[in-house]
Amino acid sequence: MSDKPRVLLSTEQIATRVAELGREIRAAYGDEPVICLGILKGSIVFLSDLIRAMDGPVQCAFLGVSSYEGTESSGQVRITHDVRTPLKGHHVVVVEDIVDTGLTLSYILKTLQVRDIKSLKVAALLDKPARRRADVPVDWIGFSIPDEFVVGYGLDLDEYYRNLPYIGIYEG
Ligand code: IMP
Ligand code: MG
Repeated sequence: MSDKPRVLLSTEQIATRVAELGREIRAAYGDEPVICLGILKGSIVFLSDLIRAMDGPVQCAFLGVSSYEGTESSGQVRITHDVRTPLKGHHVVVVEDIVDTGLTLSYILKTLQVRDIKSLKVAALLDKPARRRADVPVDWIGFSIPDEFVVGYGLDLDEYYRNLPYIGIYEG
C-alpha cells in the first residue's frame, strides 16, 4: 500500500453534512416509515451514520451491485445481492456512496421502478458531475467533488481503504 490518501473531506466535515442530510430526509417524509436501501458495499459507512441521523421509523435494506475494477468503471453492472426486504408500498431512499458516470445508479433505478414502490428517491454522499454519462435524478447530495479517484468512509480501491475514517484522494 502506498502513502495515506490526501484528505479531501475530513471526518468532522462528513459528520456535519451527514447530520444535516439525516434531518432533511426525515423532514421530507414527516412521520412516515422510510426504507434506506444501501448499495453494497460502498454505502455501508454512510448508511450507518445516516440512519442514526434520522429520527422516526426507518428500515435498512441492501442491494449489492458491482461495476468497478481498479479505478475505472467496467460499464457492466452486475447484481451481487438482491434486496431481501419487501419494498412494495414503502418510501425507499437509495443510499449511494458516489455518483460518478451515473451508469450504476441508472441501472439500479430501472430495476427498482418495477417493484411497486410508494416513492423512490436517492441520497448520495458524493457527486462527481464532471464524469456523468447517464442523466440520473439525485435528490440529496452530500458533497460535489472534483474528478479525482477518492477512497475512505466506505469507498474502496480494490476492496481496500473502506475503513479510512475520512475521504481522501488516491494518488497511486
Ligand atoms: P458510476 O456507475 O460510474 O456512477 O459509479 C458508481 C460506483 O462506482 C460507486 O457506487 C462506487 O462504488 C464506484 N466509484 C465511482 N467513483 C469512485 C471513486 O472515486 N472512488 C471509489 N469508488 C468509486
Ligand atoms: Mg466500489
